Amino acid sequence: MNDQALIKYLREMDTWANHIAKADASRKIYEDPSFQEEINELLSNIKEWNRDASSFNLDNAHELNELAEKIQKRLGSHERQGNAVPIGGHQLPPLPYGYAALEPYIDRRMMQLHHDKHHKSYVDGLNKAEIEMQKARKNNNYDLIKHWEREAAFNGAGHYLHTIFWEIMSPEGGGKAGGDLLKEIESSFGSFQKFKEHFSAAAKKVEGSGWTILVWAPRSHRLEILQAEKHQNLSQWDVIPLLPLDVWEHAYYLQYENDRGEIRGQLVERSELGGCSGSL
Ligand SMILES: [Fe+2]
Repeated sequence: MNDQALIKYLREMDTWANHIAKADASRKIYEDPSFQEEINELLSNIKEWNRDASSFNLDNAHELNELAEKIQKRLGSHERQGNAVPIGGHQLPPLPYGYAALEPYIDRRMMQLHHDKHHKSYVDGLNKAEIEMQKARKNNNYDLIKHWEREAAFNGAGHYLHTIFWEIMSPEGGGKAGGDLLKEIESSFGSFQKFKEHFSAAAKKVEGSGWTILVWAPRSHRLEILQAEKHQNLSQWDVIPLLPLDVWEHAYYLQYENDRGEIRGQLVERSELGGCSGSL
């Protein structure tokens, strides 16, 4: 790592630590004084090095990295312990940087509108859909289920994808990927250059309003580039399928003809979830 790369690393660590210190302060883990101490230690070390950036060396970078990894591990295990969002309780996450941080590429006005209005409307729409589906379960009335499932997919995809979108951009971002990510990109696409070309071409060709998304496919164990022309078409994206039920005609018509209700009932009754004793 040369001097310039070290300074860049220090700046990125500064942005990350400040983001972690402020971003999700409503979460329970932030009430833990030892967690606060770890964040404060990282922030004060970064502040010290910022004052004397020319003597910041590789060993110092490793020390900062160790502190950051400790914090990240605690955040990760806290999330895995299941701090579920209550039904209808999604909130607009704060931007991890200021509205003008990505200028001139995205100006302040555009960023504010995109985050505060558009993303917020997805959050509100998802909350509404979840509450309405809860009411349907309670009243055993599924007359409008098709509508609310669509609303949950459209607004859920909008909320989850925008949440990731803000996180993957950074005022200090850009350049070539490194480490394990670079290895995966090279193995999945041939080279970083090929990945960039493929991703840009796919983004250019998305019809209408949509997304291009680099995804990890856990079953084929590699990266892929997908287009989401209507983001609700692949449901909410940020989910793991647990019980897919194939209701295409090819799945039942030879045996059940047009009685989709019969095959649906049979398959749900015989699904593995019935005998599932593990925890999610
Ligand atoms: Fe958007």
